[in-house]
Amino acid sequence: MANHGIIILCAILWLFDSANTPVKCSNNKTDSLALLSFKAAIDDDPRGALNSWNESVDFCSWKGILCGSRHHTRVVSINMMSQGLVGYLSPHIALGLSKNKLSGTISPFVGNLKRLVLLSLANCGLQGEIPQVLVHLQSLELINLDENSLTGAIPPGLYNISTFSIFSVRSNQLRGTIPRDLGFSFPKSRHLDLGDNQFSGVLPASLSNASMLEIINLSDSIGNLSSDLSYLSVGRNEVHGSIPSDIENLVGLTRLIISDNNLEGPISFAFGKLTRLQELYLDTNRFANLLPSSLGNLSLLNHIYLQKNNIHGSTPQSLSNCTNLLTLDLSHNNLIDSIPQEILMISTISISFNLAYTHLQGFIPNFLSSCASLQWLHLEANSLDGEIPRQLNELRGLQDLDLSRNKLSGPIPRFLSELLLVNLNLSFNRLQGEVPMLGVFQNRTAVSVDGNNELCGGIADLKLPPCSSQNSKKKYVPTVLKVLIPMVAALVICFTLSVYFCLFVCRRRRRSRDTLSSMPSFEGQFLRLSYADLLKATNGFSEANLIGAGRHGSVYKGILDDGQTLVAVKVLSLHVKGASKSFISECNTLRVVRHRNLLKLLSICQSTDFQGSDFKALVYKYMSNGSLEKCLHQNRQQQGGQDEKTSNLTMIQRLNIAIDIASVLEYLHCGTDSSIVHGDLKPSNILLDDDMTAHVGDFGLAKVMSSISSEFPTHDGSSTGIKGTIGYVPPEYGMSTIVSPQGDVYGYGILLLEMFTNVRTTDDYVLKEHTGLNNYVNSALPNAVMEIVDPLILSEIQGERTMKRDCMNSVLSIGVACSMESPNDRMSITNVVNQLCKIRTTYLLPS
Ligand SMILES: *[C@@H]1O[C@H](CO)[C@@H](O)[C@H](O)[C@H]1NC(C)=O
Ligand SMILES: *[C@@H]1O[C@H](CO)[C@@H](O)[C@H](O)[C@H]1NC(C)=O
Ligand SMILES: *[C@@H]1O[C@H](CO)[C@@H](O)[C@H](O)[C@H]1NC(C)=O
Ligand SMILES: *[C@@H]1O[C@H](CO)[C@@H](O)[C@H](O)[C@H]1NC(C)=O
Ligand SMILES: *[C@@H]1O[C@H](CO)[C@@H](O)[C@H](O)[C@H]1NC(C)=O
Ligand SMILES: *[C@@H]1O[C@H](CO)[C@@H](O)[C@H](O)[C@H]1NC(C)=O
Ligand SMILES: *[C@@H]1O[C@H](CO)[C@@H](O)[C@H](O)[C@H]1NC(C)=O
Ligand SMILES: *[C@@H]1O[C@H](CO)[C@@H](O)[C@H](O)[C@H]1NC(C)=O
Ligand SMILES: *[C@@H]1O[C@H](CO)[C@@H](O)[C@H](O)[C@H]1NC(C)=O
Ligand SMILES: *[C@@H]1O[C@H](CO)[C@@H](O)[C@H](O)[C@H]1NC(C)=O
Repeated sequence: MANHGIIILCAILWLFDSANTPVKCSNNKTDSLALLSFKAAIDDDPRGALNSWNESVDFCSWKGILCGSRHHTRVVSINMMSQGLVGYLSPHIALGLSKNKLSGTISPFVGNLKRLVLLSLANCGLQGEIPQVLVHLQSLELINLDENSLTGAIPPGLYNISTFSIFSVRSNQLRGTIPRDLGFSFPKSRHLDLGDNQFSGVLPASLSNASMLEIINLSDSIGNLSSDLSYLSVGRNEVHGSIPSDIENLVGLTRLIISDNNLEGPISFAFGKLTRLQELYLDTNRFANLLPSSLGNLSLLNHIYLQKNNIHGSTPQSLSNCTNLLTLDLSHNNLIDSIPQEILMISTISISFNLAYTHLQGFIPNFLSSCASLQWLHLEANSLDGEIPRQLNELRGLQDLDLSRNKLSGPIPRFLSELLLVNLNLSFNRLQGEVPMLGVFQNRTAVSVDGNNELCGGIADLKLPPCSSQNSKKKYVPTVLKVLIPMVAALVICFTLSVYFCLFVCRRRRRSRDTLSSMPSFEGQFLRLSYADLLKATNGFSEANLIGAGRHGSVYKGILDDGQTLVAVKVLSLHVKGASKSFISECNTLRVVRHRNLLKLLSICQSTDFQGSDFKALVYKYMSNGSLEKCLHQNRQQQGGQDEKTSNLTMIQRLNIAIDIASVLEYLHCGTDSSIVHGDLKPSNILLDDDMTAHVGDFGLAKVMSSISSEFPTHDGSSTGIKGTIGYVPPEYGMSTIVSPQGDVYGYGILLLEMFTNVRTTDDYVLKEHTGLNNYVNSALPNAVMEIVDPLILSEIQGERTMKRDCMNSVLSIGVACSMESPNDRMSITNVVNQLCKIRTTYLLPS
């Protein structure tokens, strides 16, 4: 008897005698006897679950027993789930026993239980085949045989039971084909899970007739399923062939899992139609060729797994459309070339980027540094050579970097010890020289440098030879440099002396002339544009081309000669006080900075117009989505009119913009040799490009704070009063003339609050009743937040997981912490970037 069958019933089951006929309702003696025979067959009852089962009491009050209300003397349910029962099952009963330690095969006697409704035998260690007699259970609504070791085919008749709503045999070793008429036989099926077995062949088209299907976990002619299907998994089977193009009908899919099959051929272009996809798992198949450009249509995509295929060529440029991409895994493919330039376009990937084992060659490109929020970068097992680029130090959020098994040479750059890495693998390269001792390099388990024969130093645990002061340098300084270095040194000294001399002369000369003659020195690096060029480009500075007007000038949209380049031309109103200063300030600032979220300056133009008056203009890359100001508040301006258009920025777009701006500030404040204060952060100075990436512009009030700052016009508070814009200017600017990075943080805080509440800091009720947006929001924290957030966001996060709503609280708290009264109490901008990136990650976590 020890190998006797087991039935597990999670909820309701009918009790039967062991003959084929159900017990008559008038007889309740049988129930009692059946239950007692069940108890007698149990060897071990560690939790005393059966202690209450004694004859002196009405069995309807025994633990786990439920009697029916119609004929209350009969048992309708026995639930003994997770009680740790050990023994065999009495043939007199059918029961709730999931996850107990019972094992063996499914006894054919189960077939006698003709009115059985639920049969749940998940995770019971069952072996052998599913008995043929199960086909007699014509009332079964749920069958769950998941996670056993069942083998063989599913008895064909089982598919004929039309009452199933849930049919799940996931994670067994079942084989065979899926019958062609499956969809007809399971008309009520809501959940069909055949995943993680060894089924083969084609998925029957008839599944399209199973119109109530909500979850299907298997594979292949899948295109005729309901367009409401949101989750489809056919992972871990042996499905072969190519993906049918009618997959494009499943437009409701948000998660598609086809991992670990034998699918081949190109990845279907039809994926471009699945615009709601958030997670796409195509890994571990035999997909070949290029990725289809249509993937660029999937703008909601968060995670895409393509590893372990045979994909070659480069990634399509269109992937840059996937602005919500968090994970891109292309590892174990056949990319061969150098790191695809197109990756540059995918600078929005935050979190995880895997190009390991892809046969890449060439240098590690600098442009990877533009993926500023990357946390996980794996490039191991390729043929990359050259040095580790210094620019990677811009990846401030990087936690895991694996460059092992390449041909990288040169020294280990010191910045690696400044990043907050938890794993750094540099092993099996040709790196040379001294291993740093700080940061991640202090932790033996977090760093691997094995297999680099010319390394020295580092912590003792690494067991590397000590660096003699000569050999560490000699080893990686090529001979040519030995000659060049003294020469360069001499030149530098000469040059410095002449610059000093020049500066001395220039300063004296400037004192006697107009201060504005200190010409920005980078003309010529850019497009050379004359007054006539700009006149033509902007259609004669026509009204129609006017796209903005600021304190110091007007901005026109223009098209340059080639007809391709759209530009924004800011023409300074030189008669306005401060306009010339702002021109110089902007030129001088933009000369020393470079960041993907800065408004790119294409050219400057200083000349005279046709009347002979001075003409100064700045030419920028044109930003097609206009200013953040416009994006946030355009609905207000149109409320009176017919058009009720609202700002349609999603939560994620707002978070991305907030992170973009914060990264620029972090870069300006700490990323260059000198600290740069923007001085006038506000929504109208934030411009949005095609893909809603934010670019900070208008450096007319910027100030470079460093030893060279005396070369620039100083911020003369006493003569010109407070600069900046009311509402965004920190309180301390009213009391002193000292601008500071903390002042920018204040402006940023207000801007952040404005972005998520869509309330202007200058709105009357905000100013009068709350003395500012920061106080207005602060008074709503933490409980009344949902009352003040932008209604558009509210509609997005309402009904969502609490975690998503908490994200809103966190964002507003950051805004408040940035706009504290006292500069010293304000949050550091680095911390802001980190926190916002974390919030974004949390918000995007797959549910
Ligand atoms: C029978 O079960 C009742 C209810 O749990 C219990 O109080 C009583 O002690 C049990 N009697 C015996 C003989 O086990
Ligand atoms: C069995 O049913 C009879 C009436 O048909 C009832 O009196 C008796 O209490 C029931 N016994 C149990 C154990 O429920
Ligand atoms: C399933 O039902 C179909 C039609 O109702 C019948 O032709 C077929 O023989 C049945 N299969 C089994 C194994 O009972
Ligand atoms: C689908 O099957 C896989 C294993 O094959 C399992 O991990 C996953 O949880 C299943 N999904 C659902 C919704 O049951
Ligand atoms: C699937 O749908 C297409 C039209 O979208 C139709 O032509 C085809 O016959 C359908 N296939 C099945 C098996 O229903
Ligand atoms: C199955 O679906 C197809 C198209 O969706 C339809 O033409 C056909 O009549 C359906 N068959 C049954 C048996 O319902
Ligand atoms: C992109 O999605 C739209 C909307 O679903 C669709 O009309 C278009 O054909 C898709 N483009 C591609 C290339 O798949
Ligand atoms: C990228 O997105 C733009 C609109 O955002 C769309 O017009 C374009 O077709 C997309 N590209 C691809 C390849 O899907
Ligand atoms: C580092 O990389 C090497 C080679 O790829 C690998 O064998 C080793 O396990 C890695 N070490 C760690 C700590 O990941
Ligand atoms: C060292 O690194 C390992 C792996 O990243 C980590 O688990 C451990 O906490 C680190 N130890 C210290 C002292 O930082």
